[in-house]
Amino acid sequence: MRVVAILGSHRDGGDSSSAVQEIIEGLRLQETDHQTLVALSRCRILPCLACNQCSEGDCVIKDDFETIMDEVKQADLVIFATPVYFNGVSSMMKTFIDRGQQYYAKPDGFSEKKRDVILVATAGANEYEDQFEGVRLNFQFFIQYLQGKLWNFIRISGTDHTPVSMREEMKTNLRHVGQLWRERYDARD
Ligand SMILES: Cc1cc2nc3c(=O)[nH]c(=O)nc-3n(C[C@H](O)[C@H](O)[C@H](O)COP(=O)(O)O)c2cc1C
Repeated sequence: MRVVAILGSHRDGGDSSSAVQEIIEGLRLQETDHQTLVALSRCRILPCLACNQCSEGDCVIKDDFETIMDEVKQADLVIFATPVYFNGVSSMMKTFIDRGQQYYAKPDGFSEKKRDVILVATAGANEYEDQFEGVRLNFQFFIQYLQGKLWNFIRISGTDHTPVSMREEMKTNLRHVGQLWRERYDARD
C-alpha cells in the first residue's frame, strides 16, 4: 500500500499537519507499505505560467511538482491537508493545485487506476456557513484530474481556541478514519 500526504500549511506541526499525523497513525503502516510526507513549505513549487505549452508537450516548469506527482501516480491513498485561508486553500496549496492544469490539457497524464483521496481542512473560527466551500471547490477538479475519488473530506473548525493537538476525541476520530480506510483497503485485496 502506498500513501502520500501533501501538507499545505505555512507552518510546521500546525493543526492540519497534526490531523494528518493521526490519520496516518490509524493506517497502521507496515514494513511493506510506503509512506511519503510532502510539506509544500519545504518544496519549490512555482506558479503556473498559463503558457499553454502543456497542451503540446511537457510542462515547461522544472521544479518539485513532477517528483511529487510521480509519487501521487503510484499512490493508493493521497491525503491533502490545508488550513483555511480566506475561506479557501492556503496560497501554497493553490499554487500546487494550479499546476494540475497540465492534466486538464493532457488527461492521459494519469492512469485509469483510481486513487482514494482524504481531504483535511482546518479553520480557526468556529463553524460558519461556507467555511470550507472554497476548499471543496478548489479541490474538485484537481482531484478529478488526478483520477482520484474523494473518500472523505474532514473539516475541523475552531482551531483558534482549541488546537487539534489538544482534542483527544477528535484525534481518536481521525485515527479511526485511517483505520477504516485501511480495513477497506485490506478487504479489497
Ligand atoms: C492568512 C490566514 C487566513 C485565515 N483565514 C481564515 C478563514 O477565512 N476562516 C477561518 O476560520 N480561519 C482562518 N484562518 C485560521 C486558520 O485556518 C487556522 O489557524 C488553521 O487551523 C491553521 O492551520 P495550520 O496550523 O495547519 O496552518 C486564517 C489564518 C491565516 C494565517
